[in-house]
Amino acid sequence: MESDFIFMSDICTQIINSLDIADIIGEKVKLRKTNRGFMGLCPFHSEKTPSFHVFSDTQTYYCFGCHEAGNIFSFVMKTEGLNFREALELLAARAGIKLQNYEGTSKTKTPNEILEFTAKFFTSNLVGSQGNAARAYMKRRNLNQNDITKFSLGYSLNSWDSLVNFLSRAGIDGKKIFELGLSLQGRHGFYDRFRGRLMFPIKDITGKIIAFGGRLIDGEGAKYINSPESEIYSKRKNLYLLNDARKSIREKKRVILVEGYMDAIRLHKAGFTESVASLGTSLTSEQAELLARFSDVCYICYDSDEAGQNAALKGMYILAENGLDVRVVAIPDGKDPDEFLTSNPPEKFEDVLRDSKPLILRHIEALKPMLSNLSTRRKALNELFDGLSKLPPENIEPYKAELSYVTHIPPSELNVMILNGFGNAKNSDYVQLRHETKSEFENKIDYDILEKGFCAMLYHYPECRLKIKPEEIYKILKNPVAQETALALLIENFENVQALWISTEDTQKFALIAQGEKFCQELGNINVNQKWEKIYNGLKTNLIIQRNKELREKLLNNTITPEELAELSKLMNVNM
Ligand code: UTP
Ligand code: MN
Repeated sequence: MESDFIFMSDICTQIINSLDIADIIGEKVKLRKTNRGFMGLCPFHSEKTPSFHVFSDTQTYYCFGCHEAGNIFSFVMKTEGLNFREALELLAARAGIKLQNYEGTSKTKTPNEILEFTAKFFTSNLVGSQGNAARAYMKRRNLNQNDITKFSLGYSLNSWDSLVNFLSRAGIDGKKIFELGLSLQGRHGFYDRFRGRLMFPIKDITGKIIAFGGRLIDGEGAKYINSPESEIYSKRKNLYLLNDARKSIREKKRVILVEGYMDAIRLHKAGFTESVASLGTSLTSEQAELLARFSDVCYICYDSDEAGQNAALKGMYILAENGLDVRVVAIPDGKDPDEFLTSNPPEKFEDVLRDSKPLILRHIEALKPMLSNLSTRRKALNELFDGLSKLPPENIEPYKAELSYVTHIPPSELNVMILNGFGNAKNSDYVQLRHETKSEFENKIDYDILEKGFCAMLYHYPECRLKIKPEEIYKILKNPVAQETALALLIENFENVQALWISTEDTQKFALIAQGEKFCQELGNINVNQKWEKIYNGLKTNLIIQRNKELREKLLNNTITPEELAELSKLMNVNM
């Protein structure tokens, strides 16, 4: 017993001598130099003028306000909520001193306590003498001393067993360490999972540490590794920094969702404390539900490389399905939020958020290449309607004109299509109908569709607008909507017209153009000029046929004038 006591006091002295109390306290309290040491605001009671003193000669502290006093051990015990043995283990590790013949913490720890303890070990590595390389890495990534505390950052030593040894000495069962994902099992026993990495603790919504992510700071290996699922960690139910963000999310009525640990941290540092990161996987409905509890609007900033895009869209619909209004953020030059905010002020990021697009419009944009190719068009439509079917109807309503425009489906039909799913059996009537309309046209010529095609040409090709005078419109077009559409396109500035139709939700005109566009496509692989000629001539022929019919009727009724009779014989000649 006695020898134990001597051993213990020896070790304590050794630790006190090799660490500086001012360094340890300085991580928690802002200290100012005095004659005998330092002073600052007392961490043990609230005060406005500093009465907390740190004495370098005796390596102790004393507060003249609340009379708290002690040494490095009592300070760590009080501020970290540890017992003596735990404080000793932590400080010994930090001082690089091995605790020999030492039993460790007797009380069995809960999984959460083990991870909290591990996080403190990682932090002590980072701030201690073995953390030089990691601190240099932090500097390169624009992270500072405060961020260590704010985000509980740490460093896993570049060693095979530093954590395993540390935890074993603290009396924690090797199997438990393994089950919590902190070690891996090799041929010669357990070894550390995280080695030579900057550590990001992942907390649950109440702030308890449940897992870790670790970023390689140099050398070979996976950029990030993460804790596996465990009894306390379920990847699908958590989001990085949600606990820190939830208050802001409520207040700002929006959440910013990013992919990476560093992106979330950078955003928090830039004042966007409403940011969270998904944990490297595609979003789950559990995560979406979690977010929907705090906010109605979700800004999503995901890498938009081709491969990631589909997965990202799927995730976005999961958010939308859970009632979130999803806005897709595109950061210029393909940067991630971290990169963007490292070279731009926060206001610029606010601009980027303002330029975000609603999910439906973003999806349409992503599908455009597929939609404009006849062989992939059906697949694209299927995908689009599949997404739409997941959204509440009121979220679709504002985009009907645009949807109608790209799908060539009249707005009035969209609801049914969405309800039943595109290409679904219940929709076959509609698909069938469109098919018949087409063959009907081939036999009889559908003049209405010619007028629509005419409008679509005017809409898409500015050069066509020069080929016809506004006063001709009433003569060659009969459908009043087509007349209005064509006239607007000929008379007004194009952007204004388009904006007007969108703002007044003039779906009729978009639908008309959409149908016309489909018709133009069916004219086959001919150039714009040839398409225009076909349609324009078709309309003129139509005009002639109509006039012919009118005049013949008059002839039969005996109401024809001499001039009209002359006109008729001319028309008959033309026709022959
Ligand atoms: P990224 O590859 O986009 O990297 O991974 P990043 O976040 O920009 O990383 P930095 O800026 O180079 O540090 C995005 C997220 O995907 C997960 C991590 O959660 C990461 O933050 N990830 C990535 C892994 O889990 N493992 C990996 O090897 C890579
Ligand atoms: Mn990055």
